Amino acid sequence: MIYLDHAATTPCRPEVAEAMLPYLTEHFGNPSSVHAIGQEARRALDASRDRVAALIGAKAEEIVFTGSGTEADNLAIIGTFLQQRGRKNHLVTAATEHHAVLHTGEWLHGWGAAEVTVLPVDAAGRVDPEDVRRAIRPETFLVSIMAANNEIGSVNPVREIGAVCREAGVPFHTDAVQWAGALPLNVDDLNVDLLVLTAHKCYGPKGIGVLYARRGTRFQPVTHGGGQERGRRPGTESVAGAVALAKALELAVAEQPQARPRITALRDRLVRSVLERIPSSFLNGVELGPDRLPNNANLSFPGAESDMLVLNMDLEGIACSSGSACTAGAIEPSHVVQALGLPHERLISALRLSLGRATTEADVDIAVDALERIVTRLRR
Ligand SMILES: Cc1ncc(COP(=O)(O)O)c(C=O)c1O
Repeated sequence: MIYLDHAATTPCRPEVAEAMLPYLTEHFGNPSSVHAIGQEARRALDASRDRVAALIGAKAEEIVFTGSGTEADNLAIIGTFLQQRGRKNHLVTAATEHHAVLHTGEWLHGWGAAEVTVLPVDAAGRVDPEDVRRAIRPETFLVSIMAANNEIGSVNPVREIGAVCREAGVPFHTDAVQWAGALPLNVDDLNVDLLVLTAHKCYGPKGIGVLYARRGTRFQPVTHGGGQERGRRPGTESVAGAVALAKALELAVAEQPQARPRITALRDRLVRSVLERIPSSFLNGVELGPDRLPNNANLSFPGAESDMLVLNMDLEGIACSSGSACTAGAIEPSHVVQALGLPHERLISALRLSLGRATTEADVDIAVDALERIVTRLRR
């Protein structure tokens, strides 16, 4: 099987699994316990927090471990909303956000708690910082704009959007789930107040995420119970998960200088071969270059439908996706490609191929050959 769906999830690296294993078995303690076994777990948790903080240019107390990227996005949005409740009720976000953000905004709106401005994106899928500036009102409690898109790979001008928010005195949240590990990440460079990442998109396990919250950025917890994570995310911490996340991120950051050009070249080879060999094929989103995630290719093949493309690729031993994993299987084209304003036939024929560490030139060539055959067959 050739796996070209790394935007959905990545395999846990053996080094990462090895690092976390002792915290599932012999060092199984609860980090809140006072005895030595508990304290051993506490030390591992604290050390992981320090490592994650150092890797993204944050301080340890600014790192909140969560159960997923989705949970961290919810905590950022609902938590800031609750903090400002009765004073501010307006959220600014964008049309291509992950459902972890969009559905949270809709939920707040649905029970009359918040007003939500959903900004459009340009034809490349990027948000204009000037649109953010115009959307901010005195009652805006948060701007939530993702760092990089999971379906089309468009990288937003996060730093510029952050500067606009800072000028307006509004907290800025960015979902950096797809960015983390793939591109250099420093919370000060990006001008962010709240940032989310998740381990399973950078070769760690599923079920562990991080909410970075800049000192002074206040939010309420959304779950209640113990005082873990300084009361910001009650619930016994996943020590093994935190150890794994720190290890996965550390490896990704260390290897990025070599990994990024390699994967970019492979992706470019894939896109260029497809566009050259398959007539009427199109690249969706931003052009190849620095404004696109290095591993992302999202292509349309009018005349062949997304779901049939995915199914037939699967039959040929190649795993890819018609959109985000959460919307796959839905009849509607994904909300992300819809936001690009493409003609209908391009919306319903979009295919996402996302490369990874193990992808080889041979994999890419096999995938292109298969695509050419499948598209030709489906169009007949
Ligand atoms: C951009 C983005 N945000 C959030 C998430 C959710 O992360 P998790 O799967 O850890 O809940 C994903 C994963 O699909 C994603 O791609």
